[in-house]
Amino acid sequence: MKGIILAGGAGSRLYPLTLVASKQLQPVYDKPMIYYPFTTLLEGGVREFCLISTPQDLPRFRQLLGDGSRFGVTIDYREQARPEGIAQAFRIADSFIGQDPVTLILGDNIFWGGDVFTRAFGEFKTGATIFGYHVLDPERYGVVEFDSTGKAVSIEEKPKQPKSNYAVPGLYIYDNQIVSIARDLKPGARGELEITDVNLEYLRRGRLQVCRLERGFAWLDAGTSSSLHEASAYVQTIEKRQGIKIGCPEEAAFRSGILSLAQFETVVNAMPNCEYRAYLEGAVAEAKRR
Ligand code: TTP
Repeated sequence: MKGIILAGGAGSRLYPLTLVASKQLQPVYDKPMIYYPFTTLLEGGVREFCLISTPQDLPRFRQLLGDGSRFGVTIDYREQARPEGIAQAFRIADSFIGQDPVTLILGDNIFWGGDVFTRAFGEFKTGATIFGYHVLDPERYGVVEFDSTGKAVSIEEKPKQPKSNYAVPGLYIYDNQIVSIARDLKPGARGELEITDVNLEYLRRGRLQVCRLERGFAWLDAGTSSSLHEASAYVQTIEKRQGIKIGCPEEAAFRSGILSLAQFETVVNAMPNCEYRAYLEGAVAEAKRR
């Protein structure tokens, strides 16, 4: 499974924070926002990444994540000249996708709890798999309607009168049909290539699976000043209580077997002295004791 991280967009709701650094580079408690979705895909077993951002911001992401070798993965960088829709990512990344299935995660979506995505990647064969998450304000998102058997029957983008409280979070899994579906897509009413139209096409073909994320699973989106602050507070609360870090890609690469203990230790030793390093040194020491 290949992985696209979409980290462009205008970030206008975070102005003036986003005047000089993109939304996905803003701190969420103790790390850059992009670390969280990157870690979600790493934990799920993705090894080949394509990171898409604006021409101005792309060099910063490259500076942050490099060629991926620090995490035992590869990262291709591609520009999205203008924010013309989430589904445009598949056109930009078509040569990266090649013949493979692909998952796309939005660079400002933070997920925490359980291994639902790891299982979904492992079990995925064909069609599309997306998720449904119960929220208070579904009108801000793509909204899924289910029938009495739990099957998805409709998806509406930002409906005024939502048919359910289930919003579609920013992690999508597609088979290789996505390349031609994205190629044939027409811009929607907002003038953007809409991800909801992609999902509707899979629904029309009878190939869309929508998994409801359980209670107890956290999906945070950090696109406004308030939600950014809340996401930081959430991460801090869990990290302080449990003594573990959320969204730590070096640790995820080690725990999922991409980096050996020796490679992990080398990566940690290259970090400056800081709380982040101290945490990872603890993970190295623990692994050595085992
Ligand atoms: P949004 O939060 O809907 O848009 P935005 O990031 O441009 O922010 P704002 O509304 O404050 O101006 O986008 C959701 C995610 O998708 C976000 O991580 C940015 C990303 N995105 C792109 O990278 N390219 C695009 O063309 C669009 C529409 C979104």
